[in-house]
Amino acid sequence: MVHIPAISDNATPQDILKRGVESAQGKVALACSFSVEDVVIIDMARTLGLEIGVFALDTGRLNEETYEVADAVADRYRVKIDWYFPQREAVEKLEREKGLFSFRESLKNRHECCHIRKVEPLGRALKGLAGWITGLRREQSVTRTDLTPIELDEVNGGILKINPLLEWTEEQVWDYAKARRIPTNRLHKEGYPSIGCAPCTRPVAPGEHPRTGRWWWENPEHKECGLHRR
Ligand code: ADX
Ligand code: SF4
Repeated sequence: MVHIPAISDNATPQDILKRGVESAQGKVALACSFSVEDVVIIDMARTLGLEIGVFALDTGRLNEETYEVADAVADRYRVKIDWYFPQREAVEKLEREKGLFSFRESLKNRHECCHIRKVEPLGRALKGLAGWITGLRREQSVTRTDLTPIELDEVNGGILKINPLLEWTEEQVWDYAKARRIPTNRLHKEGYPSIGCAPCTRPVAPGEHPRTGRWWWENPEHKECGLHRR
């Protein structure tokens, strides 16, 4: 039976990370999109001496800048990244039948693409894990307001889901990143606070909500790709 540790209101991200990893009773890995949040977590885990794996979902549509920072992170932390790619047959069928930009045509099509390129590979990445770590933060989205720092992920087989940065603001994340001089995606400085796939992410204007640039043609309550279903 998985034990969900109690987390006090004043727990730091490091406390949450440590408690989560130690409670999982098995292998734990970070789902890494190479956002500033995810790299901060790698840095914290290293500083705490925690043994975690790092996996990344290569959707086939990522920005060049994301691959560059992935390489820089692997170098700086001497970490092996477990890359997962979508099923070839599913991508070929999708592109042949619906073209390269079907996700712009309807929410259903967008979910189909996210399912093939992200959700199915995530299922494979989580196999055999006792827990996974994410860079989710509460203030990112209306869809993330009721998350808890450590939860039971029923959708993915009842493993632990650890969200160490849940209560941190964007400013706190960047303060940590700057203090530790961690490698960050160049796109963050070019107006992309949140980075997903290249064709589904655009820069935001100063003062705009950070996720405005993600699936910008959709309503805020739809802006999830299915990785974080509950
Ligand atoms: S998304 O659902 O809108 O795409 P977002 O980009 O905010 O998610 O990232 C939230 C968290 O989901 C990241 O901190 C990371 O843990 C995980 N994640 C998102 N995209 C990927 C990816 N391509 N590979 C691995 N993990 C990812
Ligand atoms: Fe497809 Fe866009 Fe989802 Fe990436 S974010 S998997 S390109 S719909």
